[in-house]
Amino acid sequence: MHFEKRTTNCGHLRPSDADTTVTLNGWVNARRDYGGVIFIDLRDRYGVTQVVVDSAHTPELASSIDAVRSEYVLWVKGRVRMRENPNPKIPTGLVELLADEIGIINAADVTPFEIVDDLGTNEELRLTYRYLDLRRPALQKNFLVRNKLYQITHRFFEQEGFIEVETPVLTKSTPEGARDFLVPSRMNKGRFYALPQSPQLFKQLLMVSGFDKYMQIVKCFRDEDLRADRQPEFTQIDVEMSYVTQEDILALTERFIAMAWKEILGTDVPVPFPRMSFHDALNRFGSDKPDIRYGLELQNVSTLAKDSSFSIFSSTVAEGGVVMALNAKACGSFSRKQIDELTEHAKKYGAKGLPWLKMADGEISGSFAKQLAGDEAARLCGELGAENGDLLLFFPGEWERACTIGGALRTEIAKRCGILSQVSKSYSFHWVVEFPLLEYSEEESRWIARHHPFTAPMTDDVHLLHSDPTHARAVAHDLVINGYEAAGGSIRIHTNDVQQRMFDLLGFEREDAEQKFGFLLNALRFGAPPHGGIAFGFDRLVMLLCGTENIRDVIAFPKTTSGLSLMDGCPSGVDERQLAEVGMRPLDTRQ
Ligand code: AMO
Repeated sequence: MHFEKRTTNCGHLRPSDADTTVTLNGWVNARRDYGGVIFIDLRDRYGVTQVVVDSAHTPELASSIDAVRSEYVLWVKGRVRMRENPNPKIPTGLVELLADEIGIINAADVTPFEIVDDLGTNEELRLTYRYLDLRRPALQKNFLVRNKLYQITHRFFEQEGFIEVETPVLTKSTPEGARDFLVPSRMNKGRFYALPQSPQLFKQLLMVSGFDKYMQIVKCFRDEDLRADRQPEFTQIDVEMSYVTQEDILALTERFIAMAWKEILGTDVPVPFPRMSFHDALNRFGSDKPDIRYGLELQNVSTLAKDSSFSIFSSTVAEGGVVMALNAKACGSFSRKQIDELTEHAKKYGAKGLPWLKMADGEISGSFAKQLAGDEAARLCGELGAENGDLLLFFPGEWERACTIGGALRTEIAKRCGILSQVSKSYSFHWVVEFPLLEYSEEESRWIARHHPFTAPMTDDVHLLHSDPTHARAVAHDLVINGYEAAGGSIRIHTNDVQQRMFDLLGFEREDAEQKFGFLLNALRFGAPPHGGIAFGFDRLVMLLCGTENIRDVIAFPKTTSGLSLMDGCPSGVDERQLAEVGMRPLDTRQ
């Protein structure tokens, strides 16, 4: 089909172009008819230009574009002129294009929703027609940021002497952490590949091979429950280095983040980033990825609670637990309904209830005020610095659980009180370090690696692997930006015996470890250099740079939280022949 090729784009024209003749190609963003004059806003990736069809100038043209509606694709040739009514809101707003000729390149059905930003259309409909949703300038902007970050990443790591190596996508299933996505093998029926949760083992093997500094922008796949900041397939900037200490990895990361923020947002990020131990992060903020842009810190009131006449407090402490507390400043005006909502929120994180106190006109009331004897209530309030109008929330329980519930309520209070929206335009960067090496999995009734089983214990704690592994800390590091875990990594175990000991601790039978990780254990016998690294959540960095809380806003074709692609309908069934080829039978749905 013939069309006149554009000589410029829809975001380019300025007053200096007045009186020139140009051709534009683009989509009809809006059309407004005023009798003899029709205005068409023509849009492409670069912007919007106002086109004027004036029957006094071109009598035939107006009727020839009668059919033209929103999202038609046009070519327009005309002369640039200054606008009588300038629009200062858009860069091309001082000029317009007086059309001499217009051609319809392609028609468009009425779109299921209007292609405008800030639209209230439900997300499912937008995801079903994702290619239309992606026409919105706000989304397109996110992908320009994403593209910039790809380029900065490659430039930065190239300058730092890294080489990019691609690792396989069809890999061996090594169940640790999340669930694998499995791919049946046709040539080896009954066997499966797994899509990589991360290239962790490959990057370590590349260190054994002597590549020294590796990086890769890589897709990772995890079959886990999805949230606003999690997708089943996502992108990492994966990094590994030999002969380094944790300090080297942190410093490299800080240089990279500072460069990305400077080049994309123009802001100077102060380095080095503050560091916080896992213990302090939990104790003070109730999270291993706390948002420290605001205070609202938790307090441990176990010393007072130990002798409390409120039996839930005293028995919790007697059983080795703690009572954490939060002073929700000026939230004393919360209604019973609001407090019930907070209680329900706490229950989602495993709380049995949510004891609370309020202070108003010097009087203390609350869910357990009557059960407190003598000056106990006043002492609790004193400890928490309570003033008139404050709401005090208490979280009794096992330390980590109590802190986590407190952390969830801290975030909820910050949202409800507008604290989060006050800080929403700022950034905070910090490290969380000294993670416990292990954590107990109730689900599996065994110890699992908190980071992953290849993470090295801190030198001071190696002896604990034999005597008291639960207290061993890992040389692991998480980069936290505004309460998001933006990157995570560690120094790795690089000797066969420590790695074997780690597998023992995690309850792998020798044979099982050999079968699953034999290739790694072997490699560690052939002169593995000390090594370590980090992986950035690429999508999360883009989210933070774009100021969105929805990871789907920065992934071109994302999945819903139920793992569906609404546009193409995957995952979908396959026909029996395809199943038979990989040695599988259709699921018997009658059961
Ligand atoms: P980790 O599991 O911490 O470490 O992942 C690294 C970073 O990837 C991001 N991330 C995700 N982003 C979106 N959706 C998800 N489902 C998702 N899961 C993780 C996070 C996280 O910080 N191999 C190790 C890294 C290492 O030890 O070097 C790893 O994958 O931002």
